[in-house]
Amino acid sequence: MPEYLAVGNWKMNTTVSEAVMLASAIKENLGNSTPQGVEAVICPPFVSLVPVLDVIKDSSLKLGAQNAYSEAKGAFTGEISPNMLADICQYVLIGHSERRHIMREGYQVIGQKMKAVVAAGLRPVLCVGETLSQRKQGAAEAVVRRQIETGLVDIHSVEGLVIAYEPVWAIGTGVPATPVTVIDITGGAIRAELAKLYGEDAALEVPVLYGGSVTPENVSGFLQEPSIQGTLVGGASLNADQFTEIVRLTAEIKSGV
Ligand code: PGA
Repeated sequence: MPEYLAVGNWKMNTTVSEAVMLASAIKENLGNSTPQGVEAVICPPFVSLVPVLDVIKDSSLKLGAQNAYSEAKGAFTGEISPNMLADICQYVLIGHSERRHIMREGYQVIGQKMKAVVAAGLRPVLCVGETLSQRKQGAAEAVVRRQIETGLVDIHSVEGLVIAYEPVWAIGTGVPATPVTVIDITGGAIRAELAKLYGEDAALEVPVLYGGSVTPENVSGFLQEPSIQGTLVGGASLNADQFTEIVRLTAEIKSGV
C-alpha cells in the first residue's frame, strides 16, 4: 500500500528567523506526532535547513530541500550537493516547474540530479506537469510521460520515489486543477509510464501527489481521488494553520484517522 504525504514547499520565502518560527508553529500544531499514516514534510530554503532541523528533530515532521546539484562535490561554486543534504534532510524536490522554466533545467539535467539524489540515499520528489499551451494542444499526457521517462533514466528501483504532478497553469495562480482534470494524469499517464519502466506492481507503490494552488478548502477533492496519495503545497504551506489542516485532512481522508 502506498504511503500518504503532505509536502510543504516554502520556495524562496522566509528569513532564517521566520523559518524557525513557522516550523515551530507547525510542530506545535501537530503536537507530539503527525496523524497516523501521513508523512508531513517541510521544505524550507537551504539556509534554514539546519536551524529548522534543530526545531523539528524531536518531532515526526520530516525535512526536505527544494533542489540539489548533480555532483557529490567539487568546483561548482554556489551549488549544494545531495551528499551535503543527506546529513540534514530526507527529501529533495527535483524538477520543480520553476526550476524547469525559470532556471531552464532540461530533461538531462533533471535526470542527472535524480541519479545523484538517489545515490546519496535521499528520497526524490520528482515534479512533473504540463504548461497551459501544452494542455491546450492535447499534449499533457505525452509531456508528463516524457518528464518521467527522462527523470528516471538512471533510477533502477522505485524504492523511496515520490512523483508530484503539478500542472504549471495551476501553480501559484489560485486556480487549482479539478480532481476530474488530473486523474488522466495521476491515474493514467504517470502510472502507465511507471509500469512501463518498473512493472505494474512497482508502479502502484509510488506515491503520486497533486500540487497547484492546494488549500485546506480544496484539498479534500484531490485526496478523495484514489490515484492521488497526497499533495505538494506552496503558498498554503507558509501558513502553519493551513498546512497542519492539510496534514490533518490527509490523515482523515486517506487513513480514516
Ligand atoms: P502553490 O505552489 O501551492 O502556491 O500553487 C505549489 C508548488 O509550486 O509546489
